[in-house]
Amino acid sequence: MNRSNPKKFRVKSFGCQMNVYDGERMSEMLVDQGMSSAADGEDADLVVLNTCHIREKAAEKVYSDIGRLRGKDGKSPMIAVAGCVAQAEGKEISRRAPSVDIVVGPQAYHRLPELIERAKTGKKAIDTDMPAASKFDILPTRKKQARPTAFLTVQEGCDKFCTYCVVPYTRGAEISRPWADLVNEAQALVDGGVKEITLLGQNVNAWTSEDDKGKLQGLDGLIRALDGIDGLERIRYTTSHPNDMTEALIAAHGEIPALMPYLHLPVQSGSDRILKAMNRSHTTQSYLDILARMREVRPDIAISGDFIVGFPGETDADFEDTLAVVREANYAQAYSFKYSPRPGTPATVMDDQIAPEVMDERLQRLQALLNEQQYDFNKLALGRRTDILLERNGKLDGQLVGKTPWLQSVHIIAPELAIGDMVDVTIESAGPNSLQGKMTRREAA
Ligand code: 5AD
Ligand code: SF4
Repeated sequence: MNRSNPKKFRVKSFGCQMNVYDGERMSEMLVDQGMSSAADGEDADLVVLNTCHIREKAAEKVYSDIGRLRGKDGKSPMIAVAGCVAQAEGKEISRRAPSVDIVVGPQAYHRLPELIERAKTGKKAIDTDMPAASKFDILPTRKKQARPTAFLTVQEGCDKFCTYCVVPYTRGAEISRPWADLVNEAQALVDGGVKEITLLGQNVNAWTSEDDKGKLQGLDGLIRALDGIDGLERIRYTTSHPNDMTEALIAAHGEIPALMPYLHLPVQSGSDRILKAMNRSHTTQSYLDILARMREVRPDIAISGDFIVGFPGETDADFEDTLAVVREANYAQAYSFKYSPRPGTPATVMDDQIAPEVMDERLQRLQALLNEQQYDFNKLALGRRTDILLERNGKLDGQLVGKTPWLQSVHIIAPELAIGDMVDVTIESAGPNSLQGKMTRREAA
C-alpha cells in the first residue's frame, strides 16, 4: 500500500444514483491523472468514500467504513471522504476520524487531484466550497463505458426545502446543466457503448435550459433530442417532483418509444396535513391525478415512489391515509423509510416526534402492502414477450441478468449472449423481486 504516492484507487459510492454518477466521474478523472482502479480484492492506495447524508444510518456508515480500512499492520490507505457527509460535516470528519486525509464536497470533487497532491505532503485537505464555476466544465469527457447503461446528471440541487430533507443544504441550489453539454455527454456515452441512459436530478423534471436555437426547453425537449441519437435505445429519468410534472413530459410518454414506461414519483405521505408539514406543496389528490393522466397516455406504466413513515405529528389516521393512497396508486415498486431527524432541518424541532416502535410497526405494514403490489405487478408479466437489455452476469453458469422496460430484473440462461445485448424474451416465472425468462423462439417464416 503506497499512501504517500497513490497509484491504485477505489471509489465506493453509497446512497443515491447521483452518487453513483459522481463516483464514476471521479474514477474517470483519477484514471485521467494516470492512476488505475484497484481490482477486486487488491489493496488500494487511495480509497474514496462517496457518502450519503440522507438518513442518520447512512451517514454513520462512513465512520465504521473508515475504521475497517485500517489494515492488520495498523496502516490505512489515503482516505478521501466525498459526497454529502463531507459537505454536511466538513472539518468535523477529520476530528472524529483522524485517519481521513481528504474531505471533498459534491460540488468540489473536480479538485480531487489538487487535494491528493496536498495530502501527499501529509497535510489535511478539505474542500467543501460550492464554487460558481461548474465541476462539469472541468471533468474529463466520458470514455468507453464498462456497462451498457449509464447515468447522466442533468440537474442538481434542490430549492424545494421539504422540512425533513438535507439535500438543499448538501447539494445546494437547483441548477440545470446546459443543453449542449448534455447532448454532447449523451453522445459520448453512446459512442462509448451505452444503450440506455438514465437522466438524473434531485428534481430531474425541473430541468430547463435553452436549446441550440435559443428556445427554452423542459425535460421532455431534452428527451426528444436524445431520442435522436443513433444507438441510444432506452431513456429513463429520476427523481421527479409532483409539482414539476408537466403535461408535455406526461405526453412524451405516449409519443417516444425509447422513453421507458416507468415513473419514479415520490409522494412521501398520503395525508394532506402531513404533506403540508413536510412542505411538499402538493396534495394527495394532485398526486393521484398525475398518475391517472400518466396511465391515460401509457396504460402499462410502472409507478414507483418514496415514503416516509413517522414524520413528526403523524397519527394513526394519517398513516391509514398513506395506506389508502398506496392502494389507489398501485405501485410496481417503491422505497419506504422511517423518518430520520437530520441536523439543521426544520422537522427536527417539530413537536410530536414519533416513538421508534410506532415507526417500526408502520413501516412493516407499509412494506407488506408495497411488496404485495410489487409481486402482483411482476405476476402480470407472466407469459409476456418483451425486450430486455442484458446488464450483468448471473450467479449460474451461462446466466445473464437484464432489465425489462418496466425496470424488472429478468434472469435468463443464454451462454451465447453477452452483456449489452438487447434480447426478445418470454417471461416464464415471476418472483417478488425478479423474473425468469427464455429467449423467444423465432417463428418459422
Ligand atoms: N428521513 C427519512 N427519509 C428521508 N428521505 C429524505 N429525507 C429523509 C429523512 N430525513 C427519503 C425521502 C426521499 C428519499 C430519497 O429519501 O423519501 O424521497
Ligand atoms: Fe429533498 Fe424535497 Fe428536494 Fe426531494 S424535493 S431533494 S425530498 S427537499
